[in-house]
Amino acid sequence: MIADTRLFVRSSGDGEPILLIHGFPLDASLWDDQLNYFASSYRVIAIDLPGFGGSHDASLQGLDDIAAYADAVADTINGLDLDGPVHVVGLSMGGYVGLEFWRRHRSRVRSLILCHTKASGDSSLAKQSRHAAARKAIEKGTPAAVDEVLAKLLSVQSEMRSPHLTQWLRETAHRIEPPAIAAAQRAMANRQDFRKLLGQIDVPTLAIAGTDDEIVSTEVMLEMSRAIPSSKFVAIHDAAHLSPREQPEQFNAAVDDFLATIASDGVA
Ligand code: MLT
Repeated sequence: MIADTRLFVRSSGDGEPILLIHGFPLDASLWDDQLNYFASSYRVIAIDLPGFGGSHDASLQGLDDIAAYADAVADTINGLDLDGPVHVVGLSMGGYVGLEFWRRHRSRVRSLILCHTKASGDSSLAKQSRHAAARKAIEKGTPAAVDEVLAKLLSVQSEMRSPHLTQWLRETAHRIEPPAIAAAQRAMANRQDFRKLLGQIDVPTLAIAGTDDEIVSTEVMLEMSRAIPSSKFVAIHDAAHLSPREQPEQFNAAVDDFLATIASDGVA
């Protein structure tokens, strides 16, 4: 358990709060194309998880599993002057954190938007490879531990269309200190299998997949979405694992439509 963890946030706009939780090995700049767009109608809060981005000097103590990351996010959110529960948007590792945030801090969640993420835990092989990556980060440094992952995050078309994204990805990931990489890998290895809990999710949920995502397929996301009672599913075309940056217009439209539906349904 982490005591009084305040994480770095970027916040803009006014209205119902939207909390954006990035994936691994990134930071809140993942949401550069959402911060301004949604700030015209919402209060948008993009958080840097412990050890990442502006939270690079946050304590990593006790971050043994994803629940601890969710608690660190909750501590930070509790310190902000927010009106009511938040729309939680989590991408990949941010989705694991978002699910735990819902499980542990339900009254704070207005809706869930789960992007490029999955509910299953890791196989024992996947756990081993995460522990190996954690050791590699400490022994050989961040690039050695993350470059293989980075190569899968953007589609070939995205890299050709937007070379600046490839550069952003490398620079952002390589800035992360090895202990933060290691802590996140170990926490993901220890995360809970959420599949049995999906049927209990009682907030409106949107699942967003990428048609070219090699890390989390559209089939896996569709299956997760079907297991959640009040869930919608959208596949973003021509995007791999980072649709908010690869296809911001499609991504923003999907989130906008979903939030508008919640508002008009008046679903609590
Ligand atoms: C992410 O993008 O956060 C990672 O793909 C999550 C993972 O390694 O499972």
